[in-house]
Amino acid sequence: MKTDLFFYTGTGNSLWAARTAAKELGNAEIIPLLWITGNPVQIRGEAVGIIFPVHIWGLPQRVIEFIHRLPADTSRYYFALAVNAGQVAATLLQMDILMKSRGLFLSAGFDICMPSNYIPWGGPGPEEKRMRRIHDATEKIRRISSIITKRERHPVEKGPLWQNILFTWFYKLSFPHIPTLDKNFWADNKCNSCGICKKICPCGNIEMNMDKPVWLHHCEQCLACIQWCPKEAIQYGKKTPRYERYHHPEVTLEDVLSISRKASPDRAQDNYSFHSARNGSIEL
Ligand SMILES: Cc1cc2nc3c(=O)[nH]c(=O)nc-3n(C[C@H](O)[C@H](O)[C@H](O)COP(=O)(O)O)c2cc1C
Repeated sequence: MKTDLFFYTGTGNSLWAARTAAKELGNAEIIPLLWITGNPVQIRGEAVGIIFPVHIWGLPQRVIEFIHRLPADTSRYYFALAVNAGQVAATLLQMDILMKSRGLFLSAGFDICMPSNYIPWGGPGPEEKRMRRIHDATEKIRRISSIITKRERHPVEKGPLWQNILFTWFYKLSFPHIPTLDKNFWADNKCNSCGICKKICPCGNIEMNMDKPVWLHHCEQCLACIQWCPKEAIQYGKKTPRYERYHHPEVTLEDVLSISRKASPDRAQDNYSFHSARNGSIEL
């Protein structure tokens, strides 16, 4: 039975999780959420995985929109991987409730802890800790793939109660402000006007003005621009000049650029080239 793995990513952790799951599951295809334009979304697999980063203890807007566009078809097996940096909180509960409101059932939801890309709070941590997280996540995806293959139910994973209450409150407060949080981005004098930030932005939120990036206040806060800048010239607030950048070590700039390049509003959903799970790379 075929599995469709829809993913969203800023710095590659969720793309890597999708590739890893695809390899474990076999007969699976990975599809960037950015390429989905159809309403309802066309689904070809009997099972559907939704793989995304946790943002401010909850679902990114793009994932919410995707769930709203899922067909009201209850015959499929839905599962989610919430890729995070140690605080999944109530993200998967939020997803469970949202899916129920659409008449859909989230059969299983898993917390996948990976290195942090949230650079406003610091770097990704020591190399050893990052590699341990990636190793543990690999093991976990291996374990849960048998649950998915058997189409079993598994309660959605969540944080401790205090975190779920407090952080869900923070999420609700912050969520309306996410598009304008980009006012804290700026480019320092290392910027060589290469324009990669503009090309990699998943939502067309960056324009080049006098050869320097300008953020247009419809940001998704994926942090791709700051994390992938080859010159480390993009900053967020005052502290990031001294913080190390991060992207998943097995995901390349070209992988992420290829996703954004093909994402355009008038792209017909049927045109997306589904990629084979076997070799784990995106064929574009
Ligand atoms: C805006 C933003 C908010 C984040 N909030 C959380 C959070 O609430 N809990 C958490 O564990 N990680 C949080 N993170 C870290 C990411 O979820 C984590 O690093 C994830 O693996 C990144 O996945 P990606 O590389 O696919 O974008 C946040 C990252 C960003 C950019």
